[in-house]
Amino acid sequence: MSKETIVLASDHGGFELKETLKDMLSGLGYEALDLGCHGLESVDYPDYADAMADVLAGARARRGVLVCGSGIGISMAANRHSHIRAALVHDGLTARLCRQHNNANVMVLGGRTTGVDVAKDCLKIFLNTPFEGGRHERRIGKMS
Ligand code: RB5
Repeated sequence: MSKETIVLASDHGGFELKETLKDMLSGLGYEALDLGCHGLESVDYPDYADAMADVLAGARARRGVLVCGSGIGISMAANRHSHIRAALVHDGLTARLCRQHNNANVMVLGGRTTGVDVAKDCLKIFLNTPFEGGRHERRIGKMS
């Protein structure tokens, strides 16, 4: 069976956490597609949210992870694209709910606000929690 591709992108504020999550994904047997950034030099987070949106518009991947310093800017930028449901999560509960209730296709973390162990926990939950559908389907439909 071919590996599922998970897309990752960050600005400089999320770079280190993105690298950690990329390693974790590879260790879990996923194909990690890293859209950058590739270092700590200052960049603009909307560019990376847009790059994520471009990839998720195609057939190569259906889920992604974005990281900026707070997670706020890059989630705002990602959610300007109608096919993206990006959820800024802070713990296991919000990671689980963004899948069960919101069918988030992008999980967003703050590299300066969320610790590595919590972030890893969020990633595992995001990857493994199904959407509940039902009444949530109708609500999501109203956002598209
Ligand atoms: C970059 O300094 C910082 O503003 C950015 O990573 C993010 O936190 C914006 O929301």
